Order: sequence, then structure tokens, then C-alpha cells
Amino acid sequence: MKKRRTDLNRNEIVQGPSPAAVKALRTFPVEGMNFYYDGYNGSALVPELSKKFGVPRDRIIVGYGAEDILRTIFDRLDPARDVVLLNELHFDYYHIHLHARGVRFHEFRLIPEEREFRFDVDDCIEKMRALRPKLVLVTSPNNPTGNVLSSRDLARILAAAPKDTLVAIDEAYYGFDDRYEAAQFLALLRRHGNLVFIRTFSKLYALAGLRVGYALCGRNVIPMLGYQGRRLGGSRVIEEVAVAALRSSAYYRNLARTIAKERDRAIFAVNKFAHFRAFESRANLFAVKVSPGAKAAVEKEMARMPSLVCKFYAPHLLRVSVATRADMDDFIAMMARADRNAER
Ligand SMILES: Cc1ncc(COP(=O)(O)O)c(C=O)c1O
Repeated sequence: MKKRRTDLNRNEIVQGPSPAAVKALRTFPVEGMNFYYDGYNGSALVPELSKKFGVPRDRIIVGYGAEDILRTIFDRLDPARDVVLLNELHFDYYHIHLHARGVRFHEFRLIPEEREFRFDVDDCIEKMRALRPKLVLVTSPNNPTGNVLSSRDLARILAAAPKDTLVAIDEAYYGFDDRYEAAQFLALLRRHGNLVFIRTFSKLYALAGLRVGYALCGRNVIPMLGYQGRRLGGSRVIEEVAVAALRSSAYYRNLARTIAKERDRAIFAVNKFAHFRAFESRANLFAVKVSPGAKAAVEKEMARMPSLVCKFYAPHLLRVSVATRADMDDFIAMMARADRNAER
């Protein structure tokens, strides 16, 4: 697969998808393309996800990326009545889409601790009680800060949430965290009908251009959303490739490990500089606090090296996507120069 230039701005996986996924795309039997999947609501991916995660088929939604699933949820909200609760410093698509639809949202606190960010779950619960939001949406691992919500904290949120509040966890960065509490989260999904996990093939699976995401739903989610499955079924091409990726566990386990190693190496290096503080992360991205005197120097460096442009998510919070070892070496060298040239 042709690699375009690295970009540390979009949280893509430059290493590319598994050989089996590439093969599925290259050798796709074109002769079958004139047919839908057999029967109604046909899908190769839903049964595969059901088997892998132990979630019934009729509680799985497949969409055109996680974006499509988020949109399905947002489009259900009534701007006249409904309120949404988000964590601070979230994926900007959320507020762009909510603004466009005129839906009000509030934020609960995300606290920068010494080593990593932490969701303020007490604040979330307090605001949930006061606002009775129709939707609570938490990103875990969070984009742009890389911190996660523990199963214990999610259980607390669910225990406090009104039953008609949808609790959605955007797990777009699922798969990078080797401490992910899979069994505990699935147990919560079985217990709480208003819980949904949203995931994508764009990040760990390195298939952003394929546009495919999915949601694992608690028993009430599909009725709450009034969601109608695709009667004529899914895309044969997309689903065949996604299934091949799902079956490539060893490749992706390795990829996740490689990325985690590069991420942690870059964080360690950046933390040696005087003007920056990098936060621990469980995703293929991390956040760096930039001192006010160093911001102009960082911007100047990024203007000189377009392939190393990272995104300022807040005035002094830089989000960095993790790429190859060579890219991260270039990034560390760039930060070293910015550190030297910062205003004292
Ligand atoms: C938190 C989060 N959710 C969802 C998405 C969108 O994913 P997809 O490519 O599947 O639409 C992104 C993309 O960057 C993201 O960061």
C-alpha cells in the first residue's frame, strides 16, 4: 500500500493494515459485486464482531466510520429539549456537529494531574444529576489527552445515570491499551441497557480510508435511537476487508506494541525539556503542555517542517500523533530546537 508523507496531525497509522486485510482488498472477487448479501440486513462483519466480542448480532451497528454512528446518535437529539454532557477537551467533531444542529452541550472536568489527565467522575455525576442530559459522551482513550475511563468509573456513571440517558463511550482508540478491562466493560454492557461502545477500523486497524466503524449496544440502545438496520445489507468490499483485519490479531497486537513503545519513548524524551510536559497516554497520540514562552518557537518549527505539524487543541496543549521511529526522532529533534529557542 502506497504510503503518503507522514502527518502527526490526524492520528492515522502510517504502518498500514495487516497483509491479510490488504490481500482481501486486492483479491476481492469482483464477480460477486452485482449481488447484495443474501437475505435482508446481510453482513459478514456483524457475525464476526458478535463472535469476537460475545455481543448478540441484533445489538451491533455497523456504520461508515465511527463518525456515521456518532451522527446517528446526535441526529436523534431534539435541539429544543435535549442537553448533552461531554468531557472537556474532546474530539472537535462533537461540538462542531452539535453546534450545527443547535443542540446545547455542557462539559465535565478533565484534570491534568502530574503524569496523566484524569476524568473528574464526581463532576460528571453532579452535572448529570443537575442537567439530566439525553446523552453522556465520554471518549476513552480520550482524544487529545490519551487518558482512559476505568470500568469502576464507568460503573459509577451508569449507576447515577437516568435510565433514559444514553451513555456512549467513544472507543475510537480501542486496541492500544494493554491494560484494557475487556471483561469488566462487557459485563457492564450486559447489565446496562443504555450503554453503547463506539469503535472504528480507522485507528488501530489502519483502515481510515475504508470508512468503517461499529457500535456494541446495550439492550435498549437500538430502540432508544429508533435505529433501522440496513435492510439491503452492508458493503461487500468494506466488510470483507474489515473481517480480514479483525482476524489478524497477531499483526495488530504487534503494531499496538510498536506504537506504544514509540509513544512512551517520545513522552520520556519530551519530558526532559524545560518548556514541555508530555502526559502519559493509552492511544496512538499524546498531549504536551507547552509553556507560554515556547509556543511561538514550536509554531515556527512546525512551519518549517510541514510533515511534523501537530495540532494545538487548546492554547497551550499540543496533540501529537505517534508514527514511525524515524518520525518520532524528527519530532523529538524539533521539540529540542523549540526548547532551546523558547523565550526564557
Ligand atoms: C474520538 C474519535 N471518534 C471518532 C473518530 C472518527 O472515526 P472514523 O474515522 O471511524 O469516522 C475519530 C477520528 O479521529 C476520533 O478521534
